[in-house]
Amino acid sequence: MLGLKLPTDPRWVNIVEKNIEEILTDHAFCEQKAASTAISFIVLFPEYTELVQEMTALVKEEISHFKMVHDKIIARGWILGRDRKDEYVNKLLTFFPKGGSRTTFLVHKLLYAGLIEARSCERFRLLSEELEDEELRDFYRNLMVSEANHYTMFLGFARKYGDTEEVNKKWQALLDFEAEIMKELGKKETIHG
Ligand SMILES: [Fe+2]
Ligand SMILES: [Fe+2]
Repeated sequence: MLGLKLPTDPRWVNIVEKNIEEILTDHAFCEQKAASTAISFIVLFPEYTELVQEMTALVKEEISHFKMVHDKIIARGWILGRDRKDEYVNKLLTFFPKGGSRTTFLVHKLLYAGLIEARSCERFRLLSEELEDEELRDFYRNLMVSEANHYTMFLGFARKYGDTEEVNKKWQALLDFEAEIMKELGKKETIHG
């Protein structure tokens, strides 16, 4: 349903399980970045009224996810650490060439956001199924549903504002590129690592 071409090796969860503090820290900043991305759509594309409305709602939702993760960190007696580098996202964002029209830029940004939501959703599903900690399994099951909705929304906006056929081609190409990136990942205790 998410269209991803390479599933995560379930052994990734074994790596995560050994360092819950690390995954929660990284996860908190993924939520912060999702909120920041939603704000950046508002700043960059204010004339897209429907998008601005949805992004306004999304900022609130993602920052509430940030708080949920932060609360988990506090409950376990930890203090939020510094942001981690997201190698996956940094590589992904090199796919589309820079330049082009404003609509093209919007479509590319929407496709990137949709894919990051899709992969996060897949990772949350694995955590919700494989983690030993029952409380965290429930936590990730709920978040998985939210991220699946975000994925659908971003992809829907890309198809609405761009040429649908062209958008579908770009989406497939981006999925292929992402699968290549993923071959090297799945070895670290971060959400996309
Ligand atoms: Fe989120
Ligand atoms: Fe999200």
